[in-house]
Amino acid sequence: MRYLTIALGKGRLADNTMKLFQEIGITCEEMKDKNSRKLIFVNEEKRLKFFLAKGPDVPTYVEYGAADIGVVGKDTILEENRRNYEVLDLAFGKCRMCVCGPESAGELLKHHEMIKVATKYPRIAKDYFYNVKHQTVDIIKLNGSIELAPIVGLSDVIVDIVETGSTLKENGLTVLEEICPLSARMIVNRVSMRMEYERINKIINDLKGKL
Ligand code: PRP
Repeated sequence: MRYLTIALGKGRLADNTMKLFQEIGITCEEMKDKNSRKLIFVNEEKRLKFFLAKGPDVPTYVEYGAADIGVVGKDTILEENRRNYEVLDLAFGKCRMCVCGPESAGELLKHHEMIKVATKYPRIAKDYFYNVKHQTVDIIKLNGSIELAPIVGLSDVIVDIVETGSTLKENGLTVLEEICPLSARMIVNRVSMRMEYERINKIINDLKGKL
């Protein structure tokens, strides 16, 4: 039997995924060692391989077939826009993609003015402003701490993930519009879905039973 390979986004996403997998009898002892710098882990008995990648790279590994299955946030799936099947909402890592800014920026959104939007998610921001709101905007790509942008005058608003809302609150910003809900999702390579249908479908169904 060939290995089924599962790509996980490093960090909390991978930890939560392994907890869920443990509930359906899939474990990986090697992975529990938090001090390890290893990136690939094997469950010989079940012929499974797990590897840890940067979140945004997970859909790429899956699209090219280097991984059969991936677990990654819906934000990453939308932003990377890779050709994979999204098969399951794992219901953890729940948060929202929002347009945020100072209260005063709300007016700029109402009147379809040309505004500056800072974000780590240019594709999601572009799709929302161009195709949903029909508003022409200037999108500025940043790599993190997005909340800084409107505070220091780089942008009028931001498009970013809001979980508890405390980062916004502590920086005097607020949610102005909600784009979409987010959570961790399972994705599958399109060829693997056909070639390994039984094994992959069993994992999906077992997980469904626990959600
Ligand atoms: C994310 C996101 C927000 C924050 C939201 O940032 O970009 O900044 O978490 O969470 P909250 O609503 O619970 O405060 P992350 O910590 O991933 O770091 P980053 O800003 O460097 O992307």
